[in-house]
Amino acid sequence: MKTLHVMKLDLLPRAVLAAVLTCAMPAWAQQPAPGAPDNAPFDAEQLFASTCGWCHSDGGRAAGKGPQLMGTSKSDDFIRERIKNGKPGAMPAFDGALSDAQIDAIVKYIRSLKPQQG
Ligand code: HEC
Repeated sequence: MKTLHVMKLDLLPRAVLAAVLTCAMPAWAQQPAPGAPDNAPFDAEQLFASTCGWCHSDGGRAAGKGPQLMGTSKSDDFIRERIKNGKPGAMPAFDGALSDAQIDAIVKYIRSLKPQQG
């Protein structure tokens, strides 16, 4: 009698532990992989860095070969036209190289620029 009683006490925690593990495991294993966000600011930042960054420094926050874009007083239309048509002798034209959607994303990105913290 005494032995049976001890075994029951011993079995309960194991059963609970097993149940917790089987429930917890899938949730942990099924975490979605990070990356591939369809979030425009992130894509535009990458695009800007690789396409514009060698002339518009620090992601557009500082002047380089080209002027600082952060805080520009120019209109969205002006920026769109400038990206599409460039400026002879100063900036290449990106019409054809970039889609309208990409250009819109870059305009949004420029508008969202803030001084870098730290
Ligand atoms: C080869 C260097 C170069 C590259 C690459 C370049 N730019 Fe420029 N950009 C310039 C220069 C130089 C000017 C200034 C032109 C002028 O005299 O008005 C300029 C001007 C601009 C302006 C107008 C700013 C203002 O206040 O007048 C915008 C907007 C702009 N660039 C956006 C971009 C974007 C977006 C990209 C990438 C798609 C890009 N540029 C790539 C050199 C470059």
